[in-house]
Amino acid sequence: MLPELSPHVSDTAPARGALRPARSWLHSDAPSLSLNGPWRFRLSPTATAAEDFAADDFADHGWDHLPVPSHWVLESDGAYGRPIYTNIQFPFPIDPPHVPDENPTGDYRRHFDVPAGWSDAERVVLRFDGVESLFRVWVNGVEIGSASGSRLAHEFDVTSAVRPGDNVVAVRVHQWSAASYVEDQDQWWLPGIFRDVTLLARPAGGIEDVWLRTGFDNGRGRVDAEVIADASAFPVTLRIPELGVEQVWATPADVTPVDIADVEPWSAEEPRLYDATVSTAAESIALRVGFRTVEIRGDQFLVNGRRVVFHGVNRHEAHPERGRVFDEEHAREDLARMKRFNVNAVRTSHYPPHPRLLDLADELGFWVVLECDLETHGFEKGGWVGNPSDDPTWRGAYLERIERTVERDKNHPSIVIWSLGNEAGTGGNLAAMSAWVHARDAERPVHYEGDYTGEYTDIYSRMYATVTETEQIGTDGSGTPLLGCTPSQGARQRTKPFLLCEYAHAMGNGPGAFDQYEALVHQYPRLHGGFVWEWRDHGILTTTPDGTPYYAYGGDFGEVVHDGNFVMDGMLLSNDVPTPSLHEYKAVVQPVRFTFDGDTVAVTNLRHSADTSDLHFRWRVEHDGTPVESGELEVPVVTAGEAGRFAMPRIAVSPDAETWLTIDAVLAADTAWAPAGHVVATAQLDCSIRRPVPAVRPRTDWQPGSGTLSLGIAEFIDGSLARLAGRAVTGPRLELFRAPTDNDESPSDGVEGSDASIAGVSNADLWRADGLDRLTTRRVSAEHTADALRTVDKVSAANSALSVTVETNWSLEAGELELRVEVQPSSGWSTVWPRIGVRFELPDGTAAVDGATWFGLGPLESYPDSLRAARTGRFSSSVRDLSVDYARPQETGHRSELRGLTLASGESEVLRFSAIPDTHGRRPGFTLSRHTPQEIAQAQHPFERPESTTSHLIIDAAQHGLGSRACGPDVWPEFALRPESRTIRLRIAAG
Ligand code: GAL
Repeated sequence: MLPELSPHVSDTAPARGALRPARSWLHSDAPSLSLNGPWRFRLSPTATAAEDFAADDFADHGWDHLPVPSHWVLESDGAYGRPIYTNIQFPFPIDPPHVPDENPTGDYRRHFDVPAGWSDAERVVLRFDGVESLFRVWVNGVEIGSASGSRLAHEFDVTSAVRPGDNVVAVRVHQWSAASYVEDQDQWWLPGIFRDVTLLARPAGGIEDVWLRTGFDNGRGRVDAEVIADASAFPVTLRIPELGVEQVWATPADVTPVDIADVEPWSAEEPRLYDATVSTAAESIALRVGFRTVEIRGDQFLVNGRRVVFHGVNRHEAHPERGRVFDEEHAREDLARMKRFNVNAVRTSHYPPHPRLLDLADELGFWVVLECDLETHGFEKGGWVGNPSDDPTWRGAYLERIERTVERDKNHPSIVIWSLGNEAGTGGNLAAMSAWVHARDAERPVHYEGDYTGEYTDIYSRMYATVTETEQIGTDGSGTPLLGCTPSQGARQRTKPFLLCEYAHAMGNGPGAFDQYEALVHQYPRLHGGFVWEWRDHGILTTTPDGTPYYAYGGDFGEVVHDGNFVMDGMLLSNDVPTPSLHEYKAVVQPVRFTFDGDTVAVTNLRHSADTSDLHFRWRVEHDGTPVESGELEVPVVTAGEAGRFAMPRIAVSPDAETWLTIDAVLAADTAWAPAGHVVATAQLDCSIRRPVPAVRPRTDWQPGSGTLSLGIAEFIDGSLARLAGRAVTGPRLELFRAPTDNDESPSDGVEGSDASIAGVSNADLWRADGLDRLTTRRVSAEHTADALRTVDKVSAANSALSVTVETNWSLEAGELELRVEVQPSSGWSTVWPRIGVRFELPDGTAAVDGATWFGLGPLESYPDSLRAARTGRFSSSVRDLSVDYARPQETGHRSELRGLTLASGESEVLRFSAIPDTHGRRPGFTLSRHTPQEIAQAQHPFERPESTTSHLIIDAAQHGLGSRACGPDVWPEFALRPESRTIRLRIAAG
């Protein structure tokens, strides 16, 4: 006999039973009871297990305990299944609205006491803030209802089912349901009751819902209230004590807007909030009011009459141990970190976050694009056939989702745009959602990227548009067709404000080109900036069988289909460590910019509305990276959008060292997100006197042969370096390979790839095909003079006729050891190259090289298209800290523009290198690592890198840029490294 199929899982209707209408998530003084904590739990492999567990008297003693909120796949070490990561793919057959019979189903039970004092409640409501994906609820054996919409709040009326004293609530949660087809976001699938469960006593004469819409105009504020309460609950009083507001509305008809003189506006920069209450005799609701007016005027998006530039990030709810379970402290610290890195906006990709997050956003100050819980990306594969977005059967579900989204969070001043969802194709149901929002909230615009032609949304939005395309969008009548648009549709889109809802895919080492996008925003007022994809990696903390911890990504849990490490694409590693890209971002978008001009410096304030009175300006001078003087700049306050010009400090310029002036804008006082002294913006000016580069001294008396030879601190055996300053060192050997970044590993789309790319093939594959990771050397010649050694090598790979000639010159120049390497590619190389460098090996010997001090760009790694966070200075680091622990090991650690490098072992200096610029003035970069590029490239996780005590020093004449090809444009041509001749010149001395 076939098992009885669950009637619920294939139901496209979002809810059944005693579900209450959507309303705001309010802070009320009415009694409530948290049902968070341990629940009894049982997991069944299918949706058809007996429903007897819902019975009041069911004996659940044998069941486990599971915490609520949690995801069952993250508890009990795999006993309840494992997380699954997919980006676009559905992890089940595409058979809408059906899901497989193998449908993990969690049954939850717990007892709770209804407090005696609740007997006069008019209604008892059971609220679920988030359950993935479909759930049914019983109270004391009575079925209450069911709901889906994982990241949305649902409230059930349980008044008639509850009783004084002991009660039992039972919840059945199905991992898969019809709703899974519209929740295909790029993230882990994580079933369970993962947000709070709360029992609410709703008082007679209480306030069912309240919406305080605010406006701001020229110093005046306005509160336009909507109060949902029985007429008998009136009078209702609005109080804003700080503004002296005490407005009593005797009847519902009296609720009219309140105008208030002398209010301070709310903005992301100055998030001024006023405490307010809305009360009846029975209930008081506490709100925090921010006064602001959102408006689209022409093609500009304005708040309080001023254009907004979004320096935003896409934020998922992701925690390495808790998944999407909200951790307020962690979330607050994350938001504070965003502020410290000059992030001013958040898109809640791709669903409403825990409601408390919006309280924090109001308080700390962010422009928020609040997105509905909706994505049907998996239908794209089939040409969007069967896409729920255009299927009338799903209309109700779509409308229910947007209604629950907007209603829950409508009071937040931080939310300035509503977003219908993400990557759900297009269709009538999305248009219906938009119409619903327009009718409900006329002020805040509607965003949805998938509306390419602009039929039903107010903002033109794109993801991963190239720099060139973005510029074309910014211009009028460039005539260039816009993606998916006819000329007239394109013209319509150009009448709207534009934003990049996603750009600069921050997967692994990258992205490049933040600065190019940023420059456009200040050139074309229609462009309103965008949201980096994305804020943080979603790695899940787990361990190898031998107990080594690591952050897991797709495939690490044995998933049948998965998308690998595409879920590791944040500017923050899973363990909260900011990657260099976040530092780059901070530097690129800094709200205060400096321009040096002769004896003056211009300070431009690019903020929305805040002046610079919160900042102090400090300067310092360094000679070859050593601080010599510093002071404070007297900078009068610069208002938003203005620039002030100020005299530069008089500084001491060194005759024989590089002189650099650095100006920092720092916080004058502590804020909620950073202490006084926190650096908001920085600029540097090179004040050095130009000094000549020593010429190469020609030599003529070359003798063939080499044998054993000493040149100063260098010892050679058969023409090859054996020791430097008594320490075993080998090299230099040509290194053209870097451990491919995620961008390097990404196939070209054939459209945006560089002129050296092949559609469907990654750069990394081209490099491996050319053998860059397995070069071999043939010595062509070795000659010496009394104080010099010259070798010529031909470097090439198995089965390749392409080669590189490397001429290595060692010589003593006024007693100093000089190395000059000339790299000359043969003709015929057709790809870009990852790098042109030489590698030295420094084996452990007596004491391993474990640290470096350098004068050059730092402190973090930098690449040709990601150089803005790097400043010229003197820095020190352990070898370990020179590398970033990207979730999938890849190229890391390159420090650009090297002048001098000292390698250390413990406290002692071992070797000193100084870099001589080439004839174009170009300086090399360096990488010091415990692993070769080839070793790094072999590892899929950090723990797979071999144990090593050898240090590998690579001096690069050049590196290829980073780009963001993993999802977006390739390296910009200017930063692409084509094979070319290069010279590396170093002076080397004992430490
Ligand atoms: C976008 C999508 C995001 C994410 C990103 C790639 O297409 O909206 O959710 O998948 O690509 O990481």
